[in-house]
Amino acid sequence: MADDRPKTTTDDSGIPVASTEYSLSVGADGPILMNDHYLIEQMATFNREMIPDRQPHAKGGGAFGHFEVTHDVSRYTKAKFLQKGVKTEVVARFSTVAGESGSPDTWRDPRGFSVKFYTEEGNFDMVGNNTPIFFVRDPMKFQHFIHSQKRRADNGLRDNDMQWDFWTLSPESAHQVTWLMGDRGIPASWRHMDGFSSHTYLWVNEEGERFWVKYHFKTDQGIKCLTQDQADKLAGSDADYHRRDLFNAIKRGENPSWTLKMQIMPFEDAKTYHINPFDLTKTWPQSEYPLIEVGKLTLDRNPTDFFAQIEQVAFEPNNHVPGTGLSPDKMLLARSFAYADAHRARLGVNYKQIPVNAPKCPVHSYSKGGTMRSALASDPVYAPNSKGGSAADSARFPEDAVWAADGEFVRAAYTLREDDGDFNQANALVNRVMDDAARERLVQNAAGHILGGVEEPVLSRVFEYWTNVDEKIGQRIRDAVLSQKK
Ligand code: HEM
Repeated sequence: MADDRPKTTTDDSGIPVASTEYSLSVGADGPILMNDHYLIEQMATFNREMIPDRQPHAKGGGAFGHFEVTHDVSRYTKAKFLQKGVKTEVVARFSTVAGESGSPDTWRDPRGFSVKFYTEEGNFDMVGNNTPIFFVRDPMKFQHFIHSQKRRADNGLRDNDMQWDFWTLSPESAHQVTWLMGDRGIPASWRHMDGFSSHTYLWVNEEGERFWVKYHFKTDQGIKCLTQDQADKLAGSDADYHRRDLFNAIKRGENPSWTLKMQIMPFEDAKTYHINPFDLTKTWPQSEYPLIEVGKLTLDRNPTDFFAQIEQVAFEPNNHVPGTGLSPDKMLLARSFAYADAHRARLGVNYKQIPVNAPKCPVHSYSKGGTMRSALASDPVYAPNSKGGSAADSARFPEDAVWAADGEFVRAAYTLREDDGDFNQANALVNRVMDDAARERLVQNAAGHILGGVEEPVLSRVFEYWTNVDEKIGQRIRDAVLSQKK
């Protein structure tokens, strides 16, 4: 007969508890007892519930789903999860960059777009943004950039003067800043934005032929954005607007999806391309490298424990499976160190054993020990060995996602190519992508942001920066700011 009594509460050891209301005391009015193990456990676990935020991208949300390959791209990659018809489970997380975990979802900021593919050859992670470009192109500047976006040392406040100070002294930021101040700087929801690898990556096919690639996840819901006014109101009325939107949409069965399309450049083209194809502040014009359809990403399952499944999910750009790889983009190469390091600091050395991070294929890695290890190591614990342990297989899995490099050790900017100017693509965005109404919103958004505390000498540099992007836009932003400045 089924036991229809409610489940009995237990402590974390599974021992039934007598009360969740009263602590153990010496008589009803007497002192509480230290041997009330359940009370102590309650207080101790509560005190340790919080872990550090992610340094950037602290506020976010996510869901589970799958990726299905609909088109044949086997001539470009041998990756098993990218072969036509293959369906792979995924977890995705979306985020803002600068805000802390309780900050409003609708602040103007790029959005993170991370997807972990649990492939049969290990986890493949795409840790991208909703923009195809980034603010800086050398990893030495990344930490400084994030500091300028976050809070001041003295008053703990965010500071627009600090943001524009950094941007105007870093002209390579112009393309991304123009994007950010435009309509797409605040998406209506995570469902209504695209995702981009932003970086160039490498694909390798069965014959060892290599291609430079960029990933574009195009939203099937259509692009929708919020105006600054709508976003400001939502920031006050519902700080979790985007997190709520995704969860509720999936709950209603409105599962969001994205079509993955690739830009693919033959390996040799990179040497002579008129733009440095590894410069993260640039896009490749689609007239030169058109989008090639690959498959569909669908999110259809909400987390049941936000902390365990979303707060603890650990993405890392170095998770690349056979047939895929990195590129000489200096930012990307630095990222291939930074994320695993962040996870070890935030989640512990055995973070890959947390169920949401664990691969869904066998692991034979020779790692052992460490805090919170739960996977069982087995002998032999060293390689090479003659005791039946696993062995690396360079014939089946050659190190082929590679390229050649030589030169003296230097600290230098990328060598400039014909169309590598910092303002070219920002100008094209203003004049060729935006229409009159979008340009007017760009002027108002930028002016509003600048009026939020930018003072001389930064202010003059801001006008110069926008004039470098486009003379007319520069003039309009100057007029809009000076006419409203007290
Ligand atoms: C998060 C470092 C550039 C997208 C993070 C985190 C670190 C980091 C340390 C926190 C990771 C964690 O605790 O889980 C860096 C460094 C960069 C860089 C050193 C450049 C040198 C970029 C770029 C993109 C990007 C260019 C997009 C193309 C993301 C995303 C997250 C993130 C989406 C959140 C991942 C998640 O959802 O858990 N970054 N980052 N980052 N970064 Fe970067």
